[in-house]
Amino acid sequence: MEKQTVRDFDPQGKRVLVRVDFNVPIEDGKVKDDSRIRAALPTIKYLLENGASVVLMSHLGRPKGKVVESARLRPVAQRLSTLLRMPVPITGDPLGIGTRDAVARLKPGQVLMLENLRFHAAEENNDDEYAKTLASYGQVYVNDAFGTAHRAHASTVGVTKYLPAYAGLLMEREIQALSSLLDDVKHPFATVIGGAKVSGKLAVLKNLMQKVDSILIGGGMANTFLVAQGRTVGKSLLERELVDDARQILEDGEKSGVQILLPTDVVVAKEVTRGAEHKVVPVHKIPNSWSTVDIGPQTTEAFTQALEDAQTIFWNGPLGVFEVPTFGDGTRAMGRYLAARAEAGATVIVGGGDSIAALEELGLTDKMSHISTGGGASLEFLEGRELPGIAVLMDRETAAVA
Ligand code: 3PG
Repeated sequence: MEKQTVRDFDPQGKRVLVRVDFNVPIEDGKVKDDSRIRAALPTIKYLLENGASVVLMSHLGRPKGKVVESARLRPVAQRLSTLLRMPVPITGDPLGIGTRDAVARLKPGQVLMLENLRFHAAEENNDDEYAKTLASYGQVYVNDAFGTAHRAHASTVGVTKYLPAYAGLLMEREIQALSSLLDDVKHPFATVIGGAKVSGKLAVLKNLMQKVDSILIGGGMANTFLVAQGRTVGKSLLERELVDDARQILEDGEKSGVQILLPTDVVVAKEVTRGAEHKVVPVHKIPNSWSTVDIGPQTTEAFTQALEDAQTIFWNGPLGVFEVPTFGDGTRAMGRYLAARAEAGATVIVGGGDSIAALEELGLTDKMSHISTGGGASLEFLEGRELPGIAVLMDRETAAVA
């Protein structure tokens, strides 16, 4: 069902409460990766340019209901202020009298940011009083926090009991891009899945299995599949309790004609650290005391060949321990290949913080058709689940006028 968006009400003179996902990495008091902040700019600018005042709210980290100095949103407000080229003051406490006064003084064209919503446990508990107070800061509510849409919290769900609730432009883009993978996808459709663990990706693999023509599996999670095929993986990360699930996925693939590709060669290392001794071996010769840290060159070649005809490609998760540069060749090669395919007209959608970080490093994020700002949220969406933060936004047919 399509959702009402910021374009469906007149922002002129309204105070708009906007939930954003500014849960970004902070290092030495500075924002290390501002992509989530930049992704929310179109909504914020649209509202300001159309005469609204904007009250922004976000969480940062998991401070569990306490004030944690390192989880303060000041560095985020500073970064946003630079990007917007205007002051972005931040209030001391989402519930404080100071916040109420600052909100009341806000003029059209101005922005205010609330301090970290999770400094109060009430946020994650979806507490009704907390939601009501947050709602009192706006006349209209906009949710642009796709990355937090899988959480039923006061600022994503509770608040919608009190205000008309619209999707932001980022939220709209995310829903459109990810729905296109589930609904009317162009075939051949391939998915490249990596990352350390199978556990977080089992449900999405099962759901995508109904939609895709091929699945390419790399990263640490490939070990569990290799063991399901009867191989040994030395000291590598392995989820032994999921070997049966992995075997089931391989069998289902065979029955339904979905091609599932696993590595045929891998880079193994004595230690998973920078500078450790490493070599390329075929998967049937992984030494006992070594760990797999990347896909090998033969696998990289086979993976890219398997993607040659794909019209749609979804990538989630690095294919090796790419944060150690020596073990990042497979991930980087995939990033470069997918960028070239996107430029040549294929639809390439990328989700998951680590694969995006790899693309950022290569300067290739702009080449992709869509980069999802959601980690857990994009996976849950692709599992076919209805995300609570999206479900509560007004549908097109039933929209009330704000
Ligand atoms: C994320 O980074 O995935 C979102 O901001 C949600 O954060 P959470 O997992 O702490 O709820």
